[in-house]
Amino acid sequence: MRTILVANPKGGSGKTTLATNLAAYLAGQSHRVALWDLDRQKSSLNWLALRPPELPAITALDAGRHEAYPDIPENTGWLVLDAPAGIHGKHLDHALKRADKIVVPVQPSVFDMAATRDFLDQLMEEKPLRRSRAFIGIIGMRVDPRTRAAATLEQFLGQYDLPVLTYLRDTMVYVNAAFNGKGIFDLPRHQTGRDLLQWQPILEWIGQ
Ligand SMILES: Nc1ncnc2c1ncn2[C@@H]1O[C@H](COP(=O)(O)OP(=O)(O)OP(=O)(O)O)[C@@H](O)[C@H]1O
Ligand SMILES: [Mg+2]
Repeated sequence: MRTILVANPKGGSGKTTLATNLAAYLAGQSHRVALWDLDRQKSSLNWLALRPPELPAITALDAGRHEAYPDIPENTGWLVLDAPAGIHGKHLDHALKRADKIVVPVQPSVFDMAATRDFLDQLMEEKPLRRSRAFIGIIGMRVDPRTRAAATLEQFLGQYDLPVLTYLRDTMVYVNAAFNGKGIFDLPRHQTGRDLLQWQPILEWIGQ
């Protein structure tokens, strides 16, 4: 089983959007996927409850209490963890220990970058391999790569030697898909062509 943690303590950075879309993509590739919602707000589980039964299935795992480990079905191929805002301390340590890779969505605002700084500092204290770009995938969220905001984000990440894996644009495609328990990979291609291209580096990075 491979485990992907989607985390950034900054609220609203795009974790659940990434986690649900990753799960939908992997399920669409006929993998057995479990989505573990570590957030008490249960956004991922609410999304999953809306998912039409005819779409590729994703198993819901509930955090219950933070410390409790759910039973993960034995044949699970991919486990996607959706971390809550504010995750830190032992909850973050536990989640990091389980992860083969960590996806970090960052929006290029001064507020978001400042709030992400402590988290990245903490990741930099991990073992060398785990503070490398092979382990940490940064996603520029809701941003056009040609803008000054994107350049500022790259400059900020430069100090960590972490490149931006890809930029995902700000679009209602994600929002509307989520209303129906879908990811963009569940939609007709003519609606999502640009977005699928933007996702390609993420899929390659996770080895898909
Ligand atoms: N690329 C995008 N384009 C447009 N809207 C987006 C995009 N990514 C995220 N959003 C919207 O931004 C809001 C926050 O995103 P999301 O819930 O994924 O963040 P989060 O990090 O999980 O938040 P929280 O910290 O509260 O768990 C949501 O309304 C979501 O639909
Ligand atoms: Mg969330």
